[in-house]
Parts: sequence; C-alpha cells; structure tokens
Amino acid sequence: MTAVRRQQPDRTPVWFMRQAGRCLPEYRELRERHSFLEVATTPELAVEATLMPVDRFGVDGAVLFADIMLPLDGMGVPFEIQPGVGPVIADPIRTPGAIEALRVVGPEEGTPYVLEALRLLRGELGGRAAVLGFAGAPFTLACYLVEGRPSKDYPTAKAMMYGEPALWHRLMTKITDTTILYLKGQAEAGADVVQLFDSWLGLLDAGSYRNYVQPYTMRIFASLKGIVPTVHFSTSTVQLLEAIGETNPDVVSVDWRLPVDEAWRRLDYATGIQGNLDPARLMAPWESIAAGADDIITRVGGRAGHIFNLGHGIMPRTDPDKLSRLVEHVHEGTDRG
Ligand code: CP3
Repeated sequence: MTAVRRQQPDRTPVWFMRQAGRCLPEYRELRERHSFLEVATTPELAVEATLMPVDRFGVDGAVLFADIMLPLDGMGVPFEIQPGVGPVIADPIRTPGAIEALRVVGPEEGTPYVLEALRLLRGELGGRAAVLGFAGAPFTLACYLVEGRPSKDYPTAKAMMYGEPALWHRLMTKITDTTILYLKGQAEAGADVVQLFDSWLGLLDAGSYRNYVQPYTMRIFASLKGIVPTVHFSTSTVQLLEAIGETNPDVVSVDWRLPVDEAWRRLDYATGIQGNLDPARLMAPWESIAAGADDIITRVGGRAGHIFNLGHGIMPRTDPDKLSRLVEHVHEGTDRG
C-alpha cells in the first residue's frame, strides 16, 4: 500500500496475477473436491484458496479468490466456467431487450458471498499482506456477454460496438454502473486496493478505445477516488498506454512488450506502475528469471510507486518453487531497510 501511495516501501512489493490458480498442488487438491464456482462462492473456501499463495510464496498482496464473471449473477445472466475453456454464456446478450433486462444491483444483493469472503479474509490475514479486490472492466465483460464464450477476436462484440453504438453504450453503461457498486462494496468489506481487469483491451485501436471504452473506465476510477486506490490492468496495449493513463487510476499494470521504464515515462510518471515480467520466462532456467527480474528492478531505478508483478497471469505449468524464489529475489534485491 505504501507503493500504491507512491511512497518508498522498505522493499518492492510483489504479487502475481492468477497466483491462486492451477500451478499450486494445494489448489488442485481443493478443486478435486469442489468445482471452481463452488470455491469462489463459498466464503470459507474462497478464503482458503486466497491464502494459499500468501502462505507459500510470501507475496505482499492477497488477491481475493473470485472471478470477473461473478457479478453476472446479480445482473441475471446465467454462465458457466468450463474447465480448459473459460466463461460460457448459453444465451449471449445481443438485443435491446436482453440489454434492458440486465439488472443493476449492488453486491449486497448480487454477490453477497464476495463481501463475506472479504470480511473473513480481513480477519484471517491480519497485516501480512494487502487485500486486493477486483472486477472485470466493462469492455472485457461486454466481450464475454455479447460473444458468449472465449474468442481470439470477439467479432460479435466488436460488430455491436462499431455497428450499433447506441446499443453498445447502453450495455457499457449497465456494466459500468454495476461495477462501481461492486467495487465500492468490496472496499467497504475490506479491500485495500481494487484492480480493474481489461484483459481484451489489446484488441482496440486508440480511436475506438477513446470513443467506446475510455469514458466508462474513467467514470469507474473517478467514482472510486477517495474511497479506494485503483489499478488498471490490460495486456498488448502499447498503442493505448497514454489513453489508459488519461483514465486516472492510481497504478497502471503493463506487460512485457515495453520495457518498464519506457512505459512509465510514456505515462508521464503520473501513476504508479505494476509489472512486467513475461510469465513465460518462468518456464526458463532460474538464471534467466533472475536476469529478467533484475532488469526490471534496474530500469525502475528506485523510483517510488513500483509493484513487481508479471505482465499477465501465471501459466498453469509454472513450478511454484520458482515463484517463491522470485519473491525472495525481488525482496532481497530491493531491500532498503
Ligand atoms: O489468484 C488469482 O488471481 C485468483 C482470482 C482470479 C481468478 N480469475 C480465478 C480463476 C482472478 C483475478 C481472475 C480474473 C479473470 N477471470 C480474468 C482477468 C485476468 C486475466 O487473466 O486476464 C479473466 C479474463 C477471467 C475469466 C476466466 N475465468 C478465464 C479466462 C478462466 C480460465 C479458464 C481455464 O480453465 O483456462 C476462468 C476460470 C478461473 N478463474 C480459474 C481460476 C483459478 C480456473 C478455474 C479452475 O480451477 O479450473
């Protein structure tokens, strides 16, 4: 949280996206007994999964075990998470009627289990790590809602965006209103910081981003100012970096496609920065992982406001021991105590 506030912590904080997932044997074991959605919607199990990487890796952030799709429960959209596929919506949202029918409700009503899990987590975690809440960003959620399943290009969603802009804006407004309530609720329930995942943003050019997406992201961050600090996440968005900075989050997460110092400079140092080791590098021998981490630390050069992370989620085949070693390496390499 010191780094989020752009002050200098004793050592650079580290957490990983998807740190609680399938690379952990203890998570796989939990999943043998419970489905993914059962874990995510049962507060005791969600807290158990949240704490696994904190205990094992010594990371500085505990990411609430949940999913960006959960608010769809409150919106009245049935979905499944199919193993090895991802989120699937049997009846995608493609018509004015379907968009009108989407409900905008707060998490007390829509996803009470998320709030309960955060309250439990706060108690069990103590001061060991910061609590990270999160939500899917409107564009990424709209991709899933309209397309109905994971896709490389989301052509149905983008066709609505380009071809039926009024409908698109109506959909984005509903998702945005829901997301603001969802993230405010998480902050009240104990999240120290919230991250907005815009995982598919890299599909857009800067002009379309500014027309169809940026106003909504901006409204979310503006609504949370003074309530809870925010992190913007995306990947493959070198073409959008300045425009993302304009949405005014506290921290911008960047992937490995730009060196971290160059990305930060392009953001005019107006926000903190999170990143940016390539998760695939964790498949390489330790010497290469350490060299990648050292390069990031050198490029940051002690400037306050860096959170060490990967550029995207941990890959399932990653050796968890390498992640533990990486956390220790970054902590030791940045020790200012
Ligand atoms: O440590 C953590 O980060 C856990 C919390 C978390 C999950 N999903 C758990 C999960 C977070 C932060 C997410 C975010 C999420 N979910 C995103 C944004 C992050 C990103 O990677 O870009 C997206 C796009 C989703 C949608 C989603 N849910 C996908 C693509 C998948 C994976 C499908 C698969 O099996 O390959 C899910 C399911 C999911 N969410 C899993 C986990 C641990 C795997 C489910 C399992 O146990 O099989």
